[in-house]
Amino acid sequence: MTTVRDSFHTRIGFILAAAGSAIGLGNIWGFPTQAANNGGGAFLFIYLIVTLLLALPALYSEMYIGNQTQKNPVGALQEACASKSAGLGKFAGLFGLMGAILMLSFYSIVAGWMLSHALAPIAEFFDFSSASQWLETSSLGRNIVFTPIFIVLTALIIFRGIHKGIERWSSRLMPALFVMLIGLIIYILQQPGASEGLEMYLVPDFSQITNPKLIISAMGQAFFSLSIGVGGMMVYGSYLKKGDNLGKLVVSITALDTLIAFLAGLLIIPALFVAQHNGLKVFDNGVLIGEGQLIFNILPNLFDAMGDVGIIVGLVFFSLMSMAALTSTLSSTEVPVSYLVEEKNMSRNSATLGVSVVVLIASMTLVAFFDPLFGMIITWVNTFQLPIMGLFYFIVVGWLWSRGNRLQQEAKRGDSLWITVWANYIRFVCPILLSIVFINVAFR
Ligand code: PHE
Repeated sequence: MTTVRDSFHTRIGFILAAAGSAIGLGNIWGFPTQAANNGGGAFLFIYLIVTLLLALPALYSEMYIGNQTQKNPVGALQEACASKSAGLGKFAGLFGLMGAILMLSFYSIVAGWMLSHALAPIAEFFDFSSASQWLETSSLGRNIVFTPIFIVLTALIIFRGIHKGIERWSSRLMPALFVMLIGLIIYILQQPGASEGLEMYLVPDFSQITNPKLIISAMGQAFFSLSIGVGGMMVYGSYLKKGDNLGKLVVSITALDTLIAFLAGLLIIPALFVAQHNGLKVFDNGVLIGEGQLIFNILPNLFDAMGDVGIIVGLVFFSLMSMAALTSTLSSTEVPVSYLVEEKNMSRNSATLGVSVVVLIASMTLVAFFDPLFGMIITWVNTFQLPIMGLFYFIVVGWLWSRGNRLQQEAKRGDSLWITVWANYIRFVCPILLSIVFINVAFR
């Protein structure tokens, strides 16, 4: 069967979709929380370094494999490893695919919380205060309602394909997200107490910088934030014309993702201090109290304390979170869907349906056995799955892939110094650096 593969139609559409995958709860929730807990500006500083030295090359390698092979992540890794061991490639591809499903299973639950919090201010506005209370309080019932809603929203976009679904919706949602974020920052920075937060965020406490915990957290955060390691970026790369200048695109995507994380810090950290100014308990001995409390307790309380304006601010904030989450689940869902369509000859509709059912079952299992499963899955994905796959991408691009790997061939020919440096950086430096950090994480 030779059907034409669906693809992104414009470069900007591709950038917005890939940036949409990268920009998610990790940027707006994870990054500011980690920064607030790890010395503010010091974390930002280390984060930038780790992103440039390791996460960006990993993103490049992941996208490069997809782009050169023009295949789904399982097929792509199988082809890239063919001359050494196609079996290893297939295994790694399926391992990534499993990571995508695991990531979706917890991410959809959290995204459901964002949706329900976005509806709460609307219920409040219409004076349905018990409904609004239900929407704002975590419960089994709320998970059972909102997780599936979120999975269905993702499926509706995936059904429509790359151009009409993913590209079109990312191009709508990402600019809206940006405008909302800027609006919220401007508002929060004018509130009393905000300047203290700004200071903590922007003035690095350099005594923290040599703390190994900081470097490790920053690396985990950078990989998660750039969506490295589940094949989502690989499959997006495969829907881009072969040989498009990937370097520039990867730099743009990384820059956008980092910009949004930075801006989210500019919103959340000052908001914490505004909340503290209003008498809410935010820090305990300089440590942020409970990560979950930040988004689902401190911020809603802060919005409540703002009266009518707070209703709008809350609505905008949680809509923004929901949109950011939605463009992130798209790329992970596309991984198993593209696999089923290309390797198992399924129609796109049945593949999407099948994958959504699997994700639903996985996430409902997490909901049912929330403690300890939820935390375990998140730790597994962040601490093991993403760095292991990142390392594998480096090894594929640097070592295992001999045919069709233009980068290493051009480097061998010595066409340009820049390419030689880049290829060898991926071949030697990246795997070593990543292994050092990873061993520190895994055997802490
Ligand atoms: N990058 C997304 C975020 O920051 C999360 C994600 C991880 C998405 C892995 C896809 C794959 O929230």
